[in-house]
Amino acid sequence: MLVLGIDTSCDDTSASLVSFEDDRPDIVTNIVSSQSDIHDKYGGIVPELASRRHMEMIWPVVNEALGKNRIDDLGVIAVCYGPGLIGSLLVGTSFAKSMSLSTAIPFIGVNHLEGHLLSALLAEPAPGFPLLSMVVSGGHTSIYMVRGYGDYEELGKTRDDAAGEAYDKVSKLLGLGYPGGPVIDRLARTGNRKSIRFPRAMMKGTHDFSFSGLKTAVRLEVERNPALKPEDVAAAFQDAVVDVLVRKVRMAIEETGVKSVALSGGVAANSELRERMAEMCEKIGAEFYPPPVALCTDNGAMIALAGYHRFRMGQVSDLGLNPRAHLPIS
Ligand code: KG4
Ligand code: ZN
Repeated sequence: MLVLGIDTSCDDTSASLVSFEDDRPDIVTNIVSSQSDIHDKYGGIVPELASRRHMEMIWPVVNEALGKNRIDDLGVIAVCYGPGLIGSLLVGTSFAKSMSLSTAIPFIGVNHLEGHLLSALLAEPAPGFPLLSMVVSGGHTSIYMVRGYGDYEELGKTRDDAAGEAYDKVSKLLGLGYPGGPVIDRLARTGNRKSIRFPRAMMKGTHDFSFSGLKTAVRLEVERNPALKPEDVAAAFQDAVVDVLVRKVRMAIEETGVKSVALSGGVAANSELRERMAEMCEKIGAEFYPPPVALCTDNGAMIALAGYHRFRMGQVSDLGLNPRAHLPIS
């Protein structure tokens, strides 16, 4: 079966064609049109500008994802309907509804987080269940226990800022632009992580996270000492974020006994996080499944995968489906 997956939840217009044979996904195309050029100068996403760019890009991106395949060959259209920016989500969901209405191909609304936490299953080798899946993005930082398709338990989540949000805010503070993750990741390689000791909020006794104190600590340190080298601040900040993420995953492995770990969301593209998570997993005999970077950041393939399995379970959406800015995983 061929599945078209569409994601316009935030600032990337993405569409992907995924073919399934015996439930194994094969990514045929995965097209992403980034908007960082228009948001960069504001140091963050401007929702109205994001929606406008989605409107311009949705057809070119879907058309490129379809390639030479005929729309009539699709088995189902999967579209992300939340959580995210409402204006951005409206473009993707309205587009998918129109496609479905004009072709009589069924469509299904997919939770963006479900896409992320399953994205490791798009890669080879794919993990089995149960799986500990950590989603670290600009909007979320959570650890889930995945027992099967549609069977998810959130073990812990951030109580304030998401890890990616902290990267973006620290980047803005240092005048490094948006998105902050990739630039801090690069800059940190040349800095001294031990030059400053930033706090690590471990939220003891829970699997929760907190990154707003770290962001404030970076701001105070930079205000106190303007001569600090940006690369040292970047390295010390990243060290604190990665430390917390790796230690919390280790605690979750030890507590649950589940030894398969997946990572996703934009921050999962971080080179130091991938390296140190792999080292930790090897040390304690766990298997680590980091998807390729293109599948960590927002993409249509993860939406196609989650949508395919929901469709297989007999679910479809109707034209009454509305996007939701806040949407818990069910
Ligand atoms: O999952 P994503 O593409 O969008 C959502 O938030 O859903 O994640 C975007 C976030 C941004 O905050 C960006 O700064 C961060 O992921 N990011 C990174 C890296 N690449 C992207 N953070 C750290 N290191 C990176 N290499
Ligand atoms: Zn995302």
